Amino acid sequence: MSAVATDRLIEVKHPLVQHKLSYLREKDTPTVHFRKIANEVTLLLTYEATKDFPTEDIEIETPLEWTTAQRISGKKVAVCPVLRAGMGMLDGVLSLVSGARVGFIGLYRDEETLEPVEYYVKLPNDLADRDAIVLDPMLATGNSSAAAIAKVKEAGARSVTLVCLVAAPEGIDRVHSAHPDARIVTASVDRGLNERGYIVPGLGDAGDRLYGTK
Ligand code: URA
Repeated sequence: MSAVATDRLIEVKHPLVQHKLSYLREKDTPTVHFRKIANEVTLLLTYEATKDFPTEDIEIETPLEWTTAQRISGKKVAVCPVLRAGMGMLDGVLSLVSGARVGFIGLYRDEETLEPVEYYVKLPNDLADRDAIVLDPMLATGNSSAAAIAKVKEAGARSVTLVCLVAAPEGIDRVHSAHPDARIVTASVDRGLNERGYIVPGLGDAGDRLYGTK
């Protein structure tokens, strides 16, 4: 899949991702389509986020003969959506990684300070055996994503990959300075933030667009 990548940041430029992202950005896309496409883009980002999963050779018998095939080796995943907008990405991950455990991180953004406020955290208790995929659609200031990654790391996750639909450079810097070991996978690195902390050009408030609120 075509992607612009460094070790820690992957921007997925695949035409399908960019095509679908254009509908997420468009202000008149109805909720029912937005919700479906957000999961489709997440599925494609998950494909990229999992591309380095180690595989091992196994011997299997096809209807014709024995052959060597590859299976993912002992990979355990925990998917952790940041409530509420991250829930709009969960099905996209689970449709590819169906055995993943799911943790929930409840944070909201104080609209004045733009700082994250925690109200609910429930993570799998065997996180130390798992690689975590944190879902936060909009990497804006990076404060809530950095706080969510901190929670998952405190609980012992082996590695953390943040999957977001759109990222601002400010958020990427914030996450990477707080968590140099975290990977970010996104469909777009946008221009920046406006005076209200929204990503521009962005796609608006992801939670409102997913759930038809406001
Ligand atoms: N959260 C959103 O939902 N959208 C933004 O642009 C920034 C933060």
